[in-house]
Amino acid sequence: MNILKCPVCGKELQNGQRRFFCENSHSFDTAKEGYVNLLLSGKSGDCKGDNREMARSRHDFLNKGYYSPLAKEVCACAEKYSESGDTVLDICCGEGYYTEYLTKHLDRSFYGFDISKNMVRLAAKRKCGADFFVANIASIPVADKSVDFAFHLFAPFHEDEFSRVLADSGVIVTAVPGKNHLYGLKKVLYSKPYYNDEKAPQTSFLQLTDIIRVKGELDLDDPGDINALFQMTPYYYHTPANGMKRLESLEKLYTETEFILLIYKKPQR
Ligand SMILES: C[S@@+](CC[C@H](N)C(=O)[O-])C[C@H]1O[C@@H](n2cnc3c(N)ncnc32)[C@H](O)[C@@H]1O
Ligand SMILES: [Zn+2]
Repeated sequence: MNILKCPVCGKELQNGQRRFFCENSHSFDTAKEGYVNLLLSGKSGDCKGDNREMARSRHDFLNKGYYSPLAKEVCACAEKYSESGDTVLDICCGEGYYTEYLTKHLDRSFYGFDISKNMVRLAAKRKCGADFFVANIASIPVADKSVDFAFHLFAPFHEDEFSRVLADSGVIVTAVPGKNHLYGLKKVLYSKPYYNDEKAPQTSFLQLTDIIRVKGELDLDDPGDINALFQMTPYYYHTPANGMKRLESLEKLYTETEFILLIYKKPQR
């Protein structure tokens, strides 16, 4: 089933020769990497979201499998809550590591989207069988009730759009950092490191039905990996100069990882 809808008029988007188009002649070219930019602001997609270097850091770090326990758990949720042939959406897919992981294990129709063209370009280059597009979470260009299972990791929460795109029996899994997540890294960066508050997104449109905690540890001995991890985090934007100095001279890093998966369904009427 084709779930994509035109971001201009809302009609179904057809897949043509290297472009997608609707019956009202709105047309969106397929980029050479294979993704489609459905952001109405046109060329500015390059400037939105993470820059090229941050996207590359996330890509390199995740490809080494450091967060594979999380990917495994998300995949287990997708297996539990969807069936062969169902539609699965990776909301704010970033550079596509988790999408690709699921495509390797499950027989579903996969779609991923993100506002950052830098991220989506890397995701599309994975050639994993998923369809990737550039879009804003505030206006997801897919049809109402067209998604059987969605996952949404470390990104802004938009409950009305999630609720709109999910089928009535659909499930969405969100990830937020657990209390101890990357505490070892924060001990390096800050003189007063803090624990995460484990706040679940507030929602009145969706019903929280289960919580899964995924705990692990990282023992990094490559300064390149340490720096890539740092660049993936929000700390990248607010680390004091002395913390940066400590980070730059670091040759090894031990830190806990802790993810919380929150499983939401649409309330049954
Ligand atoms: C921390 S990254 C997580 C990416 C991916 N889910 C992962 O775990 O690797 C957050 C992602 O949300 C995307 N994002 C932020 N605001 C967005 C929006 N308004 N619409 C779509 N994507 C957005 C960013 O571009 C970025 O790729
Ligand atoms: Zn249209």
